[in-house]
Amino acid sequence: MELRYALPLLLFIAPLCSSDTSPGSLFVLEPVDFLFDTAVEAYYKGDWLTVILNMEKALRNKATVRKVKAQCRLSCANQTAFGDQLAGLGVAIPGAGSVEDLGFFQKILTRADCVNSCESEKLGSPTMHQVTAEVQLEFTKRTPYNYLQVAYFKINKLDKAVAAAHTFFLANPDHMEMKQNLEYYKMMAGVQQEDFKDLEARTHMAEFLLGKSYYSDDSFGLAADHFEVAVDEFFTADKECKALCEGAYNYDGYNYMEYSADLFQTITDHYMQVLNCKQHCAVELAITSGRDEPFDDFLPSHFNYLQFSYYNSEKYEQAIECAKTFLLFHPDDEVMNQNLAYYSAVLGEDKAQTISARQQYMQQSILEKELLYFGYEAFGITFVDPDQWTPEDVMPKKLRDKQKADKETAARITEEIGNLMKEIETLVEEKKKDSSEMSKIITPQEGVTVLPDDIKVTMMSKQLNGSQRVLLDGVITDDECRELQRLSNAAAQKGDGYRGQPSPHSASEMFQGVTILKAVKLGQEGKVPLKSAHLFFDLSEKVRKMLESYFSLDTTLYFSYSHLVCRSAIDEKQDDRKDLSHPVHVDNCLLVSEMNECIKEPPAYTHRDYSAILYLNEDFEGGDFIFTELDAKTVTAEVRPQCGRVVAFGAGKENPHGVRAVTKGQRCAVALWFTLDPAHEEKKVFELLTLAAACSGGQLRWMAPKV
Ligand SMILES: *[C@@H]1O[C@H](CO)[C@@H](O)[C@H](O)[C@H]1NC(C)=O
Ligand SMILES: *[C@@H]1O[C@H](CO)[C@@H](O)[C@H](O)[C@H]1NC(C)=O
Repeated sequence: MELRYALPLLLFIAPLCSSDTSPGSLFVLEPVDFLFDTAVEAYYKGDWLTVILNMEKALRNKATVRKVKAQCRLSCANQTAFGDQLAGLGVAIPGAGSVEDLGFFQKILTRADCVNSCESEKLGSPTMHQVTAEVQLEFTKRTPYNYLQVAYFKINKLDKAVAAAHTFFLANPDHMEMKQNLEYYKMMAGVQQEDFKDLEARTHMAEFLLGKSYYSDDSFGLAADHFEVAVDEFFTADKECKALCEGAYNYDGYNYMEYSADLFQTITDHYMQVLNCKQHCAVELAITSGRDEPFDDFLPSHFNYLQFSYYNSEKYEQAIECAKTFLLFHPDDEVMNQNLAYYSAVLGEDKAQTISARQQYMQQSILEKELLYFGYEAFGITFVDPDQWTPEDVMPKKLRDKQKADKETAARITEEIGNLMKEIETLVEEKKKDSSEMSKIITPQEGVTVLPDDIKVTMMSKQLNGSQRVLLDGVITDDECRELQRLSNAAAQKGDGYRGQPSPHSASEMFQGVTILKAVKLGQEGKVPLKSAHLFFDLSEKVRKMLESYFSLDTTLYFSYSHLVCRSAIDEKQDDRKDLSHPVHVDNCLLVSEMNECIKEPPAYTHRDYSAILYLNEDFEGGDFIFTELDAKTVTAEVRPQCGRVVAFGAGKENPHGVRAVTKGQRCAVALWFTLDPAHEEKKVFELLTLAAACSGGQLRWMAPKV
């Protein structure tokens, strides 16, 4: 029965597949974030075909945008090479005088025009394919495959469900539910070993891994074949990766407001960032899902595998070529020098002499590094060399000495910390012995805690008619409330993906939201006051600490996600309103109210453990917060929002909640989610924290190299 509607589906997808990727077609690519949202919405309605159609298309369009950008930049680089004659000026000698400078900039303008026209011809307006940091993150985490696996499973397309599950799991190896799903799939009839595919695998990496597996099976002929393909594919992927680096200037690490630089400094700053990104491609390409660390010394290691594979296949000429190539990277490698001597003796020294290494790649990379080190010395622009093979003299001597000293210091500190940790462990052990009797009696108690003076516990679980609930007042000041409300309105005007959109929950309200990440980003771009963005961040920390302390948690509570959301009543759509502003739901499971059940399964955010809502205003009608029973109907407690008030609660099935319709005015609040699982901590926010700290220190541009 279910199989019947699975079949037409394939027919449905196939023609789209060819039409929207063919270059130059008039077909307008639908924006990835729109497709993603559509799919997610369909998911909650159980409309599996719509989920599949939109999510697959989102993945395809994302890949297409990437491909087109790389292709445009590469072909424009070819068409407007700087070495060519400049129109009307004869041969260019950039920098020889102001007229020649004009010629140089003429090339730049031509290149920019070429890239712009190429991209807009193939992709449409450039802003259409910008996605928010949040959507970007979902794709990085491979979340679309989580939705897809459920949808394919529901329509009985097992092979596709398995591939999606496997693909998701590779990027989320700690995801317990998916692990269980995969084990379940393994036992199901009709599921084949080949179905466990990584749908996001990159060719160069897949070939490298295949090469390695043949290599360990001593199948050296096949190993060499795959490593050769891997090397070729590496260079292709590297070109693409580098072309994609030529994007917009990223103000991370700068305070945008204070950034002012002249023409050449501006060009330098942007170009250094591009070069840094290009150098990072060496790492980017060495990453594979399922491994925490990128492969060490990735490209050179190909030639190491190759030389040994060729030697074992008695192909000495190729073995010599690859050994020599490896030695380009590591000229002093003793073993490889011995290998080379041995292969040369077998083949004949004269003949071996004539074989040269493969030169591509290295020279360009070294030139990039030299420029980057120049930028480092002259302007303090950070560069962390990703490669192990960089010849010593490429790095300026002063820097080399400093790095050596830093490394020694770091090693010393690590050792000292290690000793300290041991001491602490011993102390804890002893303490545990002492208090083991006590701990049996004392159980953590709600509210036995010290909160800052100005914060008042207005209601505890008992008054709120439930468990794991608290109502606090005075968490932020009136001024802070106003500032955050302004932040939301400013962010919405500057465009954050929700602008002018009706609420996802109610057609009678307008909805605008901004995340901390987005707020800080807008702050850095000078679009909203950076101070407000910091306030948003600081109060999230404040609430996190309060909950940790209030609920007497004995492990750390981690920040997971936060959203500043305003809902405004649409005046003409308030008649006979029966819906809620936000339907009753539970934060970490899927509420099935008909069955009085809550299912803790993805894509519910199962890792969420505590939730809090901080209210920013009270000048609106409706919009009360409600707790209900699992039936989503019986209201057990109500909370009237007001500035500085926080309602916080456990994120599980004990706390179904929702928001009553906002019937007049605008209601603004910050929703915060926390987790006890460090794996689900939103780490980006901590990068921001570091950044914020760096900013307040006044030292914006210079950072010590990592050791
Ligand atoms: C540049 O274009 C020419 C002519 O179309 C082509 O032969 C050449 O291979 C291209 N070079 C690169 C680096 O793409
Ligand atoms: C808790 O329940 C009682 C009795 O039904 C009700 O009067 C009270 O308003 C409820 N508490 C809250 C905060 O809504």
